Amino acid sequence: MLDIKNLHVKIDNKNILENFNIHISKGEVHAIMGPNGTGKSTLSRVILNDKRYTVEKGDITFNGENIRNLSTDKIANKGIFLANQLPCEIDGVTTADFLRTVVTNKEDKNISLYEFIKKVENAQTDLKMKPDMIHRSINKGFSGGEKKKNEILQMKILEPKLIILDEIDSGLDVDSLKVVSENVVSYLREHNDASVLIITHYPRILEYIKPDFVHVMIGGNIKESGTYDLALKVEKEGYDSYKTSASIVSDKEQNE
Ligand SMILES: Nc1ncnc2c1ncn2[C@@H]1O[C@H](COP(=O)(O)OP(=O)(O)O)[C@@H](O)[C@H]1O
Ligand SMILES: [Mg+2]
Repeated sequence: MLDIKNLHVKIDNKNILENFNIHISKGEVHAIMGPNGTGKSTLSRVILNDKRYTVEKGDITFNGENIRNLSTDKIANKGIFLANQLPCEIDGVTTADFLRTVVTNKEDKNISLYEFIKKVENAQTDLKMKPDMIHRSINKGFSGGEKKKNEILQMKILEPKLIILDEIDSGLDVDSLKVVSENVVSYLREHNDASVLIITHYPRILEYIKPDFVHVMIGGNIKESGTYDLALKVEKEGYDSYKTSASIVSDKEQNE
């Protein structure tokens, strides 16, 4: 489904991703773990072609099509969804209006207003969200956890094929993390072909959404891949063993 080969990405002349590779097949759950500043959010944004980043070389293929030069809306329409690490606030546009517009533009056959409202109401109930939230400006004044739930609400309505969750667990309390995870798991049950890329620091979310593959990302590319056990190893041992002695020295210098 998603194939990234030899991806090199820069921002402000600084190399962020260097020879990054990943292959995600239909129905697979992948997790990427890595320390702060290693390029995880960069990766998620570059997949959606965020113009702030410069792709120096490499290919991003989705269902056999090179999407590297497509605009973000076209990539989203192909079925890639990104739940942002820090969802932005959009004053003056309600979540309901936004979703209705996107769904109307996306669906080949228009779903009726009644069906749309029912679908959104059910999704909100599943996510234990307050019903009035969709009539407020997108994320305006929402708590961190409410913003994250609002991302998953959009996922449920837009029905993507590839879901990228960039630290969806940060800012969620334990109960909300469970609710959000359960919604992702039930989505995957209903959409057999859908795949997920979970970016996280903590194995806890992976207890709920069991990954088929776990990757450790350091310094802009994947250093080790494995199964769920790798996430537990990372939690126990941290990332130091992956760093070269040179990078540990430079970390020390940075801290001093
Ligand atoms: N606009 C920017 N200008 C300069 N550096 C940036 C910019 N955006 C991100 N970076 C740098 O890119 C690196 C990777 O960031 P990011 O992808 O957010 O890491 P992660 O999500 O793994 O914590 C960091 O060192 C960050 O400071
Ligand atoms: Mg990040």
